[in-house]
Parts: sequence; C-alpha cells; structure tokens
Amino acid sequence: MGRDLTHHWENVYSKSAVETLGWYEDNPEPSLKLIKNCQLPGEAAILNVGAGASKLVDVLVSGGYKNVIANDLSTLALDALKARLGDDLIGKVKWIVDDLTQPRKLLELDQVDLWHDRAVLHFFTEPADQETYFSLLKKLVRINGFVIIAAFNLSGATKCSGLPVCRYDQHMLQKKLGSGFELLESFDQTYLTPSGSTRPYVYALFRRNSN
Ligand SMILES: C[S@@+](CC[C@H](N)C(=O)[O-])C[C@H]1O[C@@H](n2cnc3c(N)ncnc32)[C@H](O)[C@@H]1O
Repeated sequence: MGRDLTHHWENVYSKSAVETLGWYEDNPEPSLKLIKNCQLPGEAAILNVGAGASKLVDVLVSGGYKNVIANDLSTLALDALKARLGDDLIGKVKWIVDDLTQPRKLLELDQVDLWHDRAVLHFFTEPADQETYFSLLKKLVRINGFVIIAAFNLSGATKCSGLPVCRYDQHMLQKKLGSGFELLESFDQTYLTPSGSTRPYVYALFRRNSN
C-alpha cells in the first residue's frame, strides 16, 4: 500500500477554488461522448471514482440519471461539488468518502453499470495500489457493465498536483483489466488547463463481457 494521501488532497481543495485546479473540467465532453455510447437507462448505477469537483456529476444528475454515486478521498472536494449542486440535487447523489487504495465503504456497494475515472488511476504508482484498484473495479462492475478510464497518456506529464503519475495507453489499460473486458473505443484528448497549459489524456471505454 502506498502513502495515505488524504492530507495532500484535502490541502489542495482547501487552498484553491476548484475552477482554478489543473484538472478542473467545466464541460466533461469527452466523458459524455463515451457515456452516450453506453446507451444506459436513467436508472443505471454510475460510479464516478475520485470525482473531485468537476462538472460530470452535475451534468449526469441534471440529465436525468437517478443513480449516480460520487466517490472521493477528499471530503472537501465532495463538499465543493455538493455546494454547487444545491439542496435539491444533493439528495439525488450517493456520496462516498473512501480511499480507492484501501476501500471500505466502496466494498459495500451493489454492482454498478458504469465505472468512470478521469485523472485518478494515474496517481497509483505502487503495484499494490493498482492491484487494489482493479480488484475493486472487477468486484463492482457487473457483467455487461462499462468502464471509462481517462488517464495521462504516454506523451503526458509525469506529475500532477506535485505527485508522480503512471501514464497509460489503451493497451496498458486493457492488460490491467484482463480478457473479460473488451475495448470498445479509445482516443487521445488534449485538455487545456485553466492556466492555459496542455495535458494529453487517453480515454478508453470497455465493456465487461465475462469474469
Ligand atoms: C486530478 S483530480 C481529478 C478529479 C476529477 N475526476 C476530474 O476529472 O476533475 C484527482 C481526484 O482523485 C481524488 N483521489 C486521489 N486519490 C484517491 C484515492 N486513493 N481514492 C479516492 N479518490 C482519490 C482526489 O481527491 C482528486 O479529487
């Protein structure tokens, strides 16, 4: 198990407005494109791991998805997300503060139809943390369910938020997921940070066909 980074992330979210963070996404268009291709019904369980305070949760809930689950290690990140959603919508989301590398509450979830991760997996540089992450994913994603992972790609930065990252392409993600998951679609996307620099990501969508 790697370091417990709760303090690091709480510190990040306590010091900066979320809209200024180097990963803040006002329009989660690349994720939405892939989610649309999953053709999920409104009742689908969608787990956004390491949700931070970007806008995907807002867009999903206001778009009619009734079973959105937002996870993060940082209480402050989820508080910022809740504050933006407002009282009417807060109750429509299930909130889970938990560590993907030492999961407790996440282990109690029912299986989900979609696992979505943007810019979280790449922080797990220790093999043991990666193993825990993928074993949680495999426990929680139902057969015929989907996985979307967006991570820094092989030409991407080697650090984010001052932490080292492990970069990926779609083949590396496929290897981690194993043969039970089929790669449906992938693309590279260059994200423009709020301060104007570029961050190359790989986005990949998989369907789980078997165990
Ligand atoms: C770079 S941000 C990305 C946030 C969001 N997914 C987005 O696209 O804007 C990484 C997020 O992962 C969260 N995080 C980091 N390590 C985590 C862990 N072990 N378990 C759960 N969340 C974690 C951080 O608190 C942070 O909100």
